[in-house]
Amino acid sequence: MPYQQKSREEGVKLSAERRAQRVEKLKAAVSEIMSTDFARGKERITLEIGCGKGHFLSAYAEAFKDELCMGVDLISSRIRDSRNKAARLGLVNAFFEKAEAGEFLDALGGGILCEKIFIMFPDPWPKKRHFKRRLIQTEFLDMLAGHCAEGARLYFRTDHEGYFEWTRDLLLENKNWQIMPGETLPFEAVSQFQRILPVFNTLCCRLCGKS
Ligand SMILES: C[S@@+](CC[C@H](N)C(=O)[O-])C[C@H]1O[C@@H](n2cnc3c(N)ncnc32)[C@H](O)[C@@H]1O
Repeated sequence: MPYQQKSREEGVKLSAERRAQRVEKLKAAVSEIMSTDFARGKERITLEIGCGKGHFLSAYAEAFKDELCMGVDLISSRIRDSRNKAARLGLVNAFFEKAEAGEFLDALGGGILCEKIFIMFPDPWPKKRHFKRRLIQTEFLDMLAGHCAEGARLYFRTDHEGYFEWTRDLLLENKNWQIMPGETLPFEAVSQFQRILPVFNTLCCRLCGKS
């Protein structure tokens, strides 16, 4: 086998192994959350993907004290800030994990399902050559749907017109999700990015085929 091909294959194998290790760690973290007094016996969660410093989800969890809320973000310092915020508010129903969204969904497995998913001001990746890095992709929307409970809602908000149109178009052609034009977010709190980007658009969607 040519050297380059071999090293590419080894690279792919290594990155799959590393991903599997991260998912295993996240499974342990999820299991720890699910064994807390608040979460024990629950099977439904409210998830914020790309929660940043936790402004939105902390306020949400304070307003909806009966919901089990989880926030994930790629950046450790943001998760630390989110946890500090939740602790200051004395929240027992809000948990934050450093995780990539797809890996966290894998770690949830089939037993824990999302009822509400919030994606607030995701990175827009405005350059065409970077569109593939956008969080919202058909495969991601399908994967998300597979981790949702009946009647689940997906809420997406962005200041970026191009990303809004991209997401709306992918949702319109996706069999798993239906845009609900009359719906709004069930709760409003200004996230860190919303504070600096006060002009935005929102999409509210329902999981299809289920009530
Ligand atoms: C522009 S910030 C918005 C943060 C927050 N939602 C707000 O409105 O203030 C986007 C966040 O998404 C996180 N992020 C990007 N891709 C992600 C992924 N695949 N999984 C989890 N978090 C992600 C980034 O680390 C960043 O903190």
